[in-house]
Amino acid sequence: MSKKELLLIEGSPRKNGVTAKLAAILLEEAGRIDKTITVTAFDAYALALKPCTHCGYCQKHLSCVNKDFLPVDAALKTADVLVIASPVYVLGFPAPLKALLDRSQQYFEAKYARNTIAITKPKKAIFLSAYGSKDGKGVHFMEEQLQLVFKVFNAELTATIAAHNTDSGHVDFDALRGKIKAALTGIL
Ligand SMILES: Cc1cc2nc3c(=O)[nH]c(=O)nc-3n(C[C@H](O)[C@H](O)[C@H](O)COP(=O)(O)O)c2cc1C
Repeated sequence: MSKKELLLIEGSPRKNGVTAKLAAILLEEAGRIDKTITVTAFDAYALALKPCTHCGYCQKHLSCVNKDFLPVDAALKTADVLVIASPVYVLGFPAPLKALLDRSQQYFEAKYARNTIAITKPKKAIFLSAYGSKDGKGVHFMEEQLQLVFKVFNAELTATIAAHNTDSGHVDFDALRGKIKAALTGIL
Protein backbone atom coordinates (compact mmCIF):
# COMPACT_ATOMS: atom_id res chain seq x y z
CA MET A 1 0.00 0.00 0.00
CA SER A 2 1.28 3.48 -0.80
CA LYS A 3 2.32 5.84 1.96
CA LYS A 4 -0.31 8.22 3.23
CA GLU A 5 0.36 11.93 2.83
CA LEU A 6 -0.59 14.43 5.50
CA LEU A 7 -0.77 18.08 4.53
CA LEU A 8 -0.58 20.55 7.42
CA ILE A 9 -1.43 24.20 6.84
CA GLU A 10 -0.58 26.39 9.82
CA GLY A 11 -2.04 29.82 10.39
CA SER A 12 -0.41 31.14 13.55
CA PRO A 13 2.54 33.53 13.55
CA ARG A 14 3.59 32.29 17.01
CA LYS A 15 5.96 29.35 16.78
CA ASN A 16 5.49 28.59 20.50
CA GLY A 17 1.80 29.35 20.64
CA VAL A 18 -1.09 27.02 21.36
CA THR A 19 -1.89 26.34 17.70
CA ALA A 20 1.71 25.30 17.02
CA LYS A 21 1.59 23.00 20.05
CA LEU A 22 -1.64 21.38 18.84
CA ALA A 23 -0.11 20.85 15.40
CA ALA A 24 3.01 19.31 16.96
CA ILE A 25 0.87 16.94 19.05
CA LEU A 26 -1.06 15.94 15.95
CA LEU A 27 2.11 15.16 13.97
CA GLU A 28 3.49 13.18 16.89
CA GLU A 29 0.32 11.10 17.23
CA ALA A 30 -0.02 10.63 13.47
CA GLY A 31 3.55 9.30 13.36
CA ARG A 32 2.73 6.87 16.15
CA ILE A 33 -0.39 5.54 14.45
CA ASP A 34 1.13 5.35 10.97
CA LYS A 35 4.92 5.11 10.96
CA THR A 36 5.14 5.49 7.18
CA ILE A 37 3.07 8.65 6.89
CA THR A 38 4.74 11.55 5.07
CA VAL A 39 4.16 15.16 6.07
CA THR A 40 4.15 18.36 4.03
CA ALA A 41 3.71 21.52 6.09
CA PHE A 42 3.03 25.10 5.06
CA ASP A 43 3.18 28.14 7.29
CA ALA A 44 0.73 30.69 5.92
CA TYR A 45 2.76 33.59 7.34
CA ALA A 46 5.97 32.34 5.68
CA LEU A 47 4.15 31.73 2.39
CA ALA A 48 2.75 35.29 2.47
CA LEU A 49 0.47 34.67 -0.49
CA LYS A 50 -0.78 37.71 -2.35
CA PRO A 51 -4.48 38.30 -1.68
CA CYS A 52 -6.98 37.42 -4.39
CA THR A 53 -7.84 40.49 -6.48
CA HIS A 54 -10.74 38.91 -8.39
CA CYS A 55 -8.83 39.59 -11.60
CA GLY A 56 -10.69 36.93 -13.57
CA TYR A 57 -7.59 35.00 -14.68
CA CYS A 58 -8.84 31.74 -13.13
CA GLN A 59 -12.12 32.00 -15.03
CA LYS A 60 -10.09 30.94 -18.08
CA HIS A 61 -7.07 29.14 -16.64
CA LEU A 62 -6.65 26.24 -14.22
CA SER A 63 -4.39 28.28 -11.89
CA CYS A 64 -3.99 31.70 -10.33
CA VAL A 65 -2.26 34.61 -12.06
CA ASN A 66 0.07 34.65 -9.03
CA LYS A 67 2.17 31.49 -9.03
CA ASP A 68 2.95 31.61 -5.30
CA PHE A 69 0.13 29.12 -4.55
CA LEU A 70 1.48 26.36 -6.82
CA PRO A 71 3.28 24.38 -4.04
CA VAL A 72 0.05 24.30 -2.01
CA ASP A 73 -1.93 23.29 -5.10
CA ALA A 74 0.45 20.38 -5.72
CA ALA A 75 0.21 19.20 -2.11
CA LEU A 76 -3.59 19.46 -2.09
CA LYS A 77 -3.71 17.20 -5.13
CA THR A 78 -1.82 14.34 -3.48
CA ALA A 79 -2.78 14.62 0.22
CA ASP A 80 -4.82 11.92 1.97
CA VAL A 81 -5.23 13.93 5.16
CA LEU A 82 -5.52 17.71 5.43
CA VAL A 83 -4.99 19.53 8.72
CA ILE A 84 -5.77 23.21 9.09
CA ALA A 85 -4.36 24.65 12.31
CA SER A 86 -5.36 28.21 13.09
CA PRO A 87 -5.98 30.59 15.96
CA VAL A 88 -9.15 32.64 16.03
CA TYR A 89 -8.46 36.24 15.04
CA VAL A 90 -11.50 38.55 15.21
CA LEU A 91 -13.81 35.54 14.88
CA GLY A 92 -12.02 34.34 11.75
CA PHE A 93 -8.77 33.22 10.16
CA PRO A 94 -5.60 35.32 10.46
CA ALA A 95 -5.11 37.28 7.22
CA PRO A 96 -2.32 35.14 5.66
CA LEU A 97 -4.37 31.96 6.07
CA LYS A 98 -7.51 33.68 4.80
CA ALA A 99 -5.51 34.72 1.72
CA LEU A 100 -4.62 31.05 1.19
CA LEU A 101 -8.24 29.92 1.54
CA ASP A 102 -9.37 32.64 -0.90
CA ARG A 103 -7.19 30.99 -3.54
CA SER A 104 -9.79 28.21 -3.62
CA GLN A 105 -11.64 30.55 -5.98
CA GLN A 106 -9.57 29.07 -8.85
CA TYR A 107 -11.14 25.67 -8.09
CA PHE A 108 -14.65 27.13 -7.87
CA GLU A 109 -14.15 28.79 -11.27
CA ALA A 110 -12.88 25.49 -12.69
CA LYS A 111 -15.93 23.67 -11.35
CA TYR A 112 -18.72 26.12 -12.07
CA ALA A 113 -17.38 28.08 -15.06
CA ARG A 114 -15.70 25.20 -16.89
CA ASN A 115 -17.14 22.00 -15.35
CA THR A 116 -13.65 20.81 -14.34
CA ILE A 117 -12.76 19.16 -11.04
CA ALA A 118 -9.28 20.43 -10.17
CA ILE A 119 -8.61 18.30 -7.08
CA THR A 120 -9.78 14.77 -7.68
CA LYS A 121 -8.28 12.97 -4.70
CA PRO A 122 -10.66 12.78 -1.75
CA LYS A 123 -9.19 13.47 1.66
CA LYS A 124 -10.18 13.59 5.31
CA ALA A 125 -9.66 16.83 7.18
CA ILE A 126 -9.13 17.93 10.76
CA PHE A 127 -9.42 21.51 11.98
CA LEU A 128 -7.28 22.50 14.98
CA SER A 129 -7.94 25.84 16.58
CA ALA A 130 -7.15 28.01 19.57
CA TYR A 131 -9.10 30.92 20.93
CA GLY A 132 -8.36 33.21 23.81
CA SER A 133 -11.84 33.82 25.14
CA LYS A 134 -14.32 31.55 26.88
CA ASP A 135 -16.77 31.47 23.97
CA GLY A 136 -15.80 29.65 20.82
CA LYS A 137 -17.93 31.77 18.50
CA GLY A 138 -15.23 32.25 15.88
CA VAL A 139 -14.53 28.53 15.55
CA HIS A 140 -18.04 27.98 14.26
CA PHE A 141 -17.68 30.73 11.63
CA MET A 142 -14.32 29.28 10.60
CA GLU A 143 -15.79 25.80 10.29
CA GLU A 144 -18.42 27.24 7.94
CA GLN A 145 -15.68 28.80 5.81
CA LEU A 146 -13.78 25.54 5.72
CA GLN A 147 -16.88 23.56 4.78
CA LEU A 148 -17.23 25.82 1.75
CA VAL A 149 -13.58 25.63 0.70
CA PHE A 150 -13.43 21.88 1.35
CA LYS A 151 -16.05 21.33 -1.38
CA VAL A 152 -13.37 22.15 -3.93
CA PHE A 153 -10.38 20.86 -1.92
CA ASN A 154 -12.25 17.51 -2.07
CA ALA A 155 -11.94 17.30 1.71
CA GLU A 156 -14.34 16.06 4.34
CA LEU A 157 -14.14 17.75 7.73
CA THR A 158 -14.11 14.88 10.20
CA ALA A 159 -13.19 16.68 13.43
CA THR A 160 -12.71 20.13 14.93
CA ILE A 161 -10.56 20.29 18.04
CA ALA A 162 -10.19 23.65 19.73
CA ALA A 163 -8.24 24.89 22.73
CA HIS A 164 -10.38 27.40 24.56
CA ASN A 165 -9.68 30.22 26.98
CA THR A 166 -6.01 30.15 25.96
CA ASP A 167 -5.41 33.71 27.16
CA SER A 168 -5.95 32.49 30.73
CA GLY A 169 -2.68 30.59 30.35
CA HIS A 170 -4.29 27.28 31.31
CA VAL A 171 -4.66 24.84 28.44
CA ASP A 172 -5.34 21.16 29.08
CA PHE A 173 -3.01 19.70 26.44
CA ASP A 174 -3.48 16.16 27.75
CA ALA A 175 -7.22 16.29 27.11
CA LEU A 176 -6.60 17.86 23.68
CA ARG A 177 -4.06 15.15 22.86
CA GLY A 178 -6.72 12.53 23.62
CA LYS A 179 -9.17 14.23 21.24
CA ILE A 180 -6.53 14.53 18.51
CA LYS A 181 -5.59 10.88 18.88
CA ALA A 182 -9.23 9.81 18.62
CA ALA A 183 -9.74 11.97 15.52
CA LEU A 184 -6.66 10.49 13.84
CA THR A 185 -7.57 6.93 14.75
CA GLY A 186 -10.79 7.42 12.82
CA ILE A 187 -9.01 8.34 9.60
CA LEU A 188 -5.53 6.75 9.52
C1 LIG B 1 -5.45 39.89 16.28
C2 LIG B 1 -6.05 38.94 17.28
C3 LIG B 1 -7.41 38.71 17.27
C4 LIG B 1 -7.98 37.82 18.18
N1 LIG B 1 -9.33 37.59 18.14
C5 LIG B 1 -9.89 36.69 18.97
C6 LIG B 1 -11.29 36.41 18.92
O1 LIG B 1 -12.03 36.95 18.10
N2 LIG B 1 -11.80 35.51 19.78
C7 LIG B 1 -11.02 34.87 20.70
O2 LIG B 1 -11.55 34.04 21.46
N3 LIG B 1 -9.68 35.10 20.78
C8 LIG B 1 -9.10 35.98 19.93
N4 LIG B 1 -7.74 36.22 19.97
C9 LIG B 1 -6.91 35.43 20.92
C10 LIG B 1 -6.23 34.27 20.22
O3 LIG B 1 -7.15 33.48 19.50
C11 LIG B 1 -5.52 33.38 21.24
O4 LIG B 1 -4.55 34.13 21.94
C12 LIG B 1 -4.87 32.18 20.61
O5 LIG B 1 -4.37 31.32 21.59
C13 LIG B 1 -3.70 32.59 19.68
O6 LIG B 1 -3.18 31.44 19.07
P1 LIG B 1 -1.64 31.02 19.26
O7 LIG B 1 -1.50 30.73 20.74
O8 LIG B 1 -1.49 29.82 18.42
O9 LIG B 1 -0.81 32.16 18.82
C14 LIG B 1 -7.16 37.14 19.11
C15 LIG B 1 -5.77 37.39 19.11
C16 LIG B 1 -5.22 38.28 18.21
C17 LIG B 1 -3.73 38.53 18.24
